[in-house]
Amino acid sequence: MRVISVKDPQEMSEQAARLIMDRLRQKPKLVLGLATGGTPEGTYQKLIENHRTEGMSYRQVTTFNLDEYVGIPKMHPNNYFYYMKHRLFDHIDLPPEKAYLPNGEAEDLQTECARYEHLLKKAGGIDVQLLGIGVNGHIGFNEPGTSFESLTHVVELDESTRKANARFFSSIEEVPHQAITMGIQTIMCAREIVLLAAGEAKAEAMTRLLSGSVTEQFPASVLNHHPHVTVIADEAALKRTGNR
Ligand code: F6R
Repeated sequence: MRVISVKDPQEMSEQAARLIMDRLRQKPKLVLGLATGGTPEGTYQKLIENHRTEGMSYRQVTTFNLDEYVGIPKMHPNNYFYYMKHRLFDHIDLPPEKAYLPNGEAEDLQTECARYEHLLKKAGGIDVQLLGIGVNGHIGFNEPGTSFESLTHVVELDESTRKANARFFSSIEEVPHQAITMGIQTIMCAREIVLLAAGEAKAEAMTRLLSGSVTEQFPASVLNHHPHVTVIADEAALKRTGNR
């Protein structure tokens, strides 16, 4: 696992955007795995800026998001499709039909999970997957205890995750109890993984991740078994590791 230590969230976003753009230059038909949450917002901004100023094109790119809440309508500000549309998709030239997210409003959620896996395979798998990390070590919405063999599935969200995400809702009661997420095995199939972390709240999670011990009780630890992972984290997130 390569660790890039940066000063602050701004530098983290710059580095992450640079890495994505490098891969895009090498492979214009890139299949890009995307994340939501607070951490990647700056990266998306940088990608948009570069699209505007340098004309970096996403015309041939396909994207797959990690996850989506169950039961939040597409046009609701907390829906992840809505998040992606407003923070990235509407501002670049990615064809809308090539931007995939799980459908959290599907009538049959199990069929939806299988459909998503099928779409991923059909696209040839993910070239670069962007990840954030939960304070409990979750990646996607794979909470502690999730099998490393898991494919895209429906999850019950941890109370700690609902609490952490309540900041985006008007109250914790509004935070859904379920989500659809790529599984751990799905994520591990990506050819390259870029994990971003910023802020002191992630310091404990980064210490566990970089300790190297691998357990299903700390989902992100599985990344220690992946051959091509880059962690880009700021000083605050790395303050308890030897990587500052
Ligand atoms: C989001 C996702 C989550 C977040 C994680 C960190 O699509 O899959 O695993 O990456 O909860 O969230 P933030 O960035 O808000 O701290």
